[in-house]
Amino acid sequence: MPLVTTTEMFKKAYEGGYAIGAFNVNNMETIQAIVEAAEECSSPVILQVSAGARKYANPVYLRHLVAAAVETTHIPVAMHLDHGADFEICKDSIENGFTSVMIDASSKPWEENIKTTREVVEYAHARGVVVEAELGKLAGIEDDVKVASKDALFTSPDEVQEFTERTGIDSLAIAIGTSHGAYKFKPGQDPKLRIDILEEIGRRLPGFPIVLHGASSVPQDKVAIVNQFGGDMPNAIGIPESELKKAVKLAVCKVNIDSDLRVAFTAAVRKHLAENPSHFDPRQYLTDARASMKEMVKHKICDVLGSANKA
Ligand code: G3H
Ligand code: 13P
Ligand code: ZN
Repeated sequence: MPLVTTTEMFKKAYEGGYAIGAFNVNNMETIQAIVEAAEECSSPVILQVSAGARKYANPVYLRHLVAAAVETTHIPVAMHLDHGADFEICKDSIENGFTSVMIDASSKPWEENIKTTREVVEYAHARGVVVEAELGKLAGIEDDVKVASKDALFTSPDEVQEFTERTGIDSLAIAIGTSHGAYKFKPGQDPKLRIDILEEIGRRLPGFPIVLHGASSVPQDKVAIVNQFGGDMPNAIGIPESELKKAVKLAVCKVNIDSDLRVAFTAAVRKHLAENPSHFDPRQYLTDARASMKEMVKHKICDVLGSANKA
């Protein structure tokens, strides 16, 4: 099946009370793990590419790896630009076959966010590509955008209607307590999302797909393996899966996950090399890393997001 946009995926997800996983891709093993997992769960999936991924892997490699994945699967796959910083990178991605782009001007003043987003929407829609934008600020690291926790700003429900109407976007990323990376909450903090804000946004934008960034749960069993085999990730805390399950029953149709795949990958590599110190063929430990990421994606799809059998 060729690459698709997220329009149909989100419509069904909204109506069905589930969400599509948007997983960050940086290399072949990650792409294979995600697509094989989604295929086995018969779930639609979004593969997303960040600025960090482009810098690491070269966008041409990523594009062709995604094309290879699509050629070998039957499920609907969307290729999405994650945190597009400006019009130019969105345009470049659209020209290179992305079916969905995010323009992230959320750190810019209100009018500038609207203007830049509107420009991207006009360019993208004329070419059959859909657009995600963001309102509010997430704590943590968004590629080059660093937002101190104290400046974390929840999305104001009062702004969402005007923003979506004036920009014409297809989905909206909001800040309700998620954040990027593996350290989302401090020990002792109550790791809760502002479901009340999500509910209010849902009332203001009936039928409109909402996106959650920074939604990794940082499973403690994987963190324990990292720490057991020489790693040092004290106090890595993510979003409880029980909170995500509430969100996907509401307006959230896309859930962004990157850190969980990183932790799954690293736990497997550390364990493999600790248990097999003589191994030096990367295929040996990357086989375990790929299997660990695949297991993680299946868990997300089947047990958290609810998109299994929706392909
Ligand atoms: O939103 C951030 C993603 O996790 C991508 O991170 O820029 O390190 O690839 P990255
Ligand atoms: P995590 O760091 O929680 O995996 O979030 C990833 C993300 O939001 C990518 O845009
Ligand atoms: Zn993000």
